Amino acid sequence: MDKLFIFDTTLRDGEQVPGCQLNTIEKIEIAKALEELGVDVIEAGFPVSSPGDFNSVVEISKAVTWPTICALTRAVEKDIEVAAEALKYAKKKRIHTGIGTSDYHIKYKFNSTQEEVLQRAIAATAYAKKFVEDVEFYAEDAGRTDNEYLAKVVQAVINAGATVVNIPDTTGYCLPTEYGAKIKYLVDNVDLKGAILSTHCHQDLGMATANSIMGVLNGARQVEVTINGVGERAGNTSLEEVVMAIKSHKELQIETNINTKKIYPLSRKVSSLMNMPVQPNKAIVGRNAFAHSSGIHQDGVLKNLSTYEIIDPKEVGIDDNAIVLTARSGRHALKNRLGLLGIEVEGEKLTELYEKFLELADHKKDINDDDLLILAGKEGNASNRIKLDYLQVTSGKGVRCTAVVALDIAGEKFTATSFGNGPVDAAIRAVKEIIKRQITIQEFLIQAINKGSDDFGKVHMQVEFNGINYYGFSANTDIISASVEAFINAMNKIPV
Ligand code: KIV
Ligand code: ZN
Repeated sequence: MDKLFIFDTTLRDGEQVPGCQLNTIEKIEIAKALEELGVDVIEAGFPVSSPGDFNSVVEISKAVTWPTICALTRAVEKDIEVAAEALKYAKKKRIHTGIGTSDYHIKYKFNSTQEEVLQRAIAATAYAKKFVEDVEFYAEDAGRTDNEYLAKVVQAVINAGATVVNIPDTTGYCLPTEYGAKIKYLVDNVDLKGAILSTHCHQDLGMATANSIMGVLNGARQVEVTINGVGERAGNTSLEEVVMAIKSHKELQIETNINTKKIYPLSRKVSSLMNMPVQPNKAIVGRNAFAHSSGIHQDGVLKNLSTYEIIDPKEVGIDDNAIVLTARSGRHALKNRLGLLGIEVEGEKLTELYEKFLELADHKKDINDDDLLILAGKEGNASNRIKLDYLQVTSGKGVRCTAVVALDIAGEKFTATSFGNGPVDAAIRAVKEIIKRQITIQEFLIQAINKGSDDFGKVHMQVEFNGINYYGFSANTDIISASVEAFINAMNKIPV
């Protein structure tokens, strides 16, 4: 069996999604869960980009023991110095440096030449090598880079000490055969001297997993992935898809270190902390990934699971017999279920959560894992200056929608009434009347998590104020309240 290294970039490339930013505590929580999952490398951030990113790399380095901690840089000395400083506490450390190698990048981004970019690549690798032994080089936009020039760059950085060379399909442009051929060309034309080639594929044409697998079949031995495939634009290659494809195809004779039973709980955790819903038909971790609804399929799986199921859901940590909590469940059952979801709570925090749980159970018959993750979820990085005190809406057929809203703003009470073309519109207009700021809603997404009319509605909102976007989130069984709370959550992020 050949080992395939799993390099997780949920906390770097994945976290670049607008509105999904995590604070350091949340990143540490995910990093520890990635360690338990068994990833080999955690890309923890881009330290020079912000003090927050720097701090996250420092804290993750302290919190995690086994995986290598990796920090991203540009081919710039200052970036490399800052990354090395941020990695100070990592038990195993890697600097990931690189530069764009396609003509698009060389000409339009750098106004440079192939020779100059080659020299910068060598210099950056050699400089990073002064700080750490393990240096990964990325040839940005390698997917659109001419193979002959790419091979020259890859050989040069390996000669300069790179231990891993990343071949990103930055724009998600490659076809699987093309990407596989690119990796093969490098294997055949570069003296790798023990260095590993890595895939890093984006999902713009929906081919990230196929491209990564083709890379592996042609000799790459590291894949760069994110949980749930999160990432900018259409996202990155998803960890769960590549890992389960490799595991399902034993004939490939390739193995990873991933404990696949931890995949589903971590998928839920990332979705919940990032406020990023997983599409129901998402492979491996989507709500419907193992739901057989047609009569023929149901009949088949009842006779024998292998008729229509290639993976036992338990293998990825989906427990069909998961206890559904109800209003009659006790504190112990709640604590136990949260523990299985990777959330350890004790004492006062448990009491507080149990009270929230009972309140929810009053409105909703069965409480499932998603509900619990929301209850236990993030407090958010917003202040609590503006609070929703009271909300009453009148709506229905033939009724003019009206809302009465009372807000508590830094301890002072304000009330307003407004009309609207629907209950949400009326309520948001009433809020705007009180706060008197020119805030416009740019995006507004309501999503039910499960099935049933008693479900939680999750609301994501993007608002714009003075040219800057702010993101709000809330979840409530009352979707009008959730919408107003999400709006208020976004407003609380606007500096006073
Ligand atoms: O997509 C990409 O090219 C990247 C690099 C910075 C590694 O994320
Ligand atoms: Zn990327």
